[in-house]
Amino acid sequence: MLLNSLICWDNDMKKNLKILMTAAEIAPFAKVGGLADVVGSLPPALKKLGVDIRLMMPLYGTIDRKKFKLKKIKSNINIESGKRNLKINIWKGKLPPSAGSGRGGTLVIIYFIENKKYFGAKNVYVKKSNAERFLFFSLAALKALQIIKFKPDVIHCHDFHTALIPDLLKANDWPYFKNTKTIYTIHNLNYQGNSEIEILKTGNLTKDSLKTLTRDAQNGDINFMVQGILNAGLVTTVSKTYSKEIMTSTYGAKLDNIIKKRKKDLYGIVNGIDVLFFNPAKDKNIKKRYTSKTIKNKTTNKTYLQKKLGLPVNKDVPLVGIIMRLAWQKGIELFTEKFMDLNCQFVVLGTGQEKYEKKLKVLEKKYPNKFSAQIMFDIKLAQQIYAASDIFLMPSRFEPCGLGQMIAMRYGAVPVVRATGGLKDTVDLKTGFRFNKFETDDFYVALSRAINVYYKKPRDWKKLQINGMKKDFSWDKSAKEYLKLYRKLVK
Ligand code: GLC
Repeated sequence: MLLNSLICWDNDMKKNLKILMTAAEIAPFAKVGGLADVVGSLPPALKKLGVDIRLMMPLYGTIDRKKFKLKKIKSNINIESGKRNLKINIWKGKLPPSAGSGRGGTLVIIYFIENKKYFGAKNVYVKKSNAERFLFFSLAALKALQIIKFKPDVIHCHDFHTALIPDLLKANDWPYFKNTKTIYTIHNLNYQGNSEIEILKTGNLTKDSLKTLTRDAQNGDINFMVQGILNAGLVTTVSKTYSKEIMTSTYGAKLDNIIKKRKKDLYGIVNGIDVLFFNPAKDKNIKKRYTSKTIKNKTTNKTYLQKKLGLPVNKDVPLVGIIMRLAWQKGIELFTEKFMDLNCQFVVLGTGQEKYEKKLKVLEKKYPNKFSAQIMFDIKLAQQIYAASDIFLMPSRFEPCGLGQMIAMRYGAVPVVRATGGLKDTVDLKTGFRFNKFETDDFYVALSRAINVYYKKPRDWKKLQINGMKKDFSWDKSAKEYLKLYRKLVK
């Protein structure tokens, strides 16, 4: 018995894994979508498991070096890129504890690659040249690792921006990375990073550098996502259901056949959320804090928000929240004028495609007592909406994981979601309402069902809320699954 536990202990301790996680966005430094939240909140959970995990991202012009106490640690490092030689500086900082990175001594280290030409601008993404920018970043990241002398066992890449790292490693055969493995996580298959072959030069690659590049280049361009999928040691997506969906023609975004080739190495690991940050018991942005035991305090948040947004103040009417990027993926077009005859109020927060923004503004004008359209990006208001809402909508066309439904449940807002991807994996009959077909009628019926339970079965309603609030959305479980995959790669 004692011997057994000693052996276990020895196995667990035998290797303190070194992991580099790298992505285009990491919250709170730079955020466009859910990718940033994930890469900003998963690492502390891995660190807790004993992994020496470090992060790396570009130093965008928007990142506040003073506020985040970043330090320049290396200057003027030459990156011999085939396109043009450029210099980088390396900066170092830590994930702030507000991002859930634990306290005292356990903060995760993050490195930044500074190059004004590529990353000096105010935006994470620019209109053109994203492929070139991020290929340069990937090349620079590999050089930076050698300069700072961090030799990862595994490099964990995310989405198309860092998808060419496995290719760079294979094509170059650097002795420094002799034992370094790679893992690639798909957050959203619809952004693939298509680019003309010319781009490869930036990374000192040619179309003949690898078989997969040669094949990919047959149609005259290079697809970063395809490269990541084919060349990484293992591939993951952010929910089990999405990992299966992307092997079908409906959800595969034309890559289903490529993905099927990696079926054996493909895993779905559902995201968590930063439960320290998203916590109604501690949230400083909301009017009245509450727990599952004091859930009636949500009403104060509701009436506060109604007043703030100019909606009729009424604690009894259900408030329905929508917070999303107004993009094709998110299914806002299913939301039509027909919904205005439901006995509830709506508040939408988000920005995105102009046609959706306009449509929402028109609804607000026509139904000022029912509908509030907040066309903006506002973290504080988002928290207030989660806290105030009784119901939260996510009618996504596809949803790799989705974070909004989990935040909503944590704040006691009952989700009504389309049963796809991570929405299907995180919302069930005990915590919310689902519909299957991507159609207005089905969506409408699901929301009507929710409103009906709200008015007619208050006890059942409360149960739904409490079940959601008590669900464990922390990263702990998923971090263990990632750790298993890292170990599988390095064994
Ligand atoms: C992308 C997906 C979203 C997922 C997020 C984080 O934004 O669209 O479903 O939750 O990445 O993985």
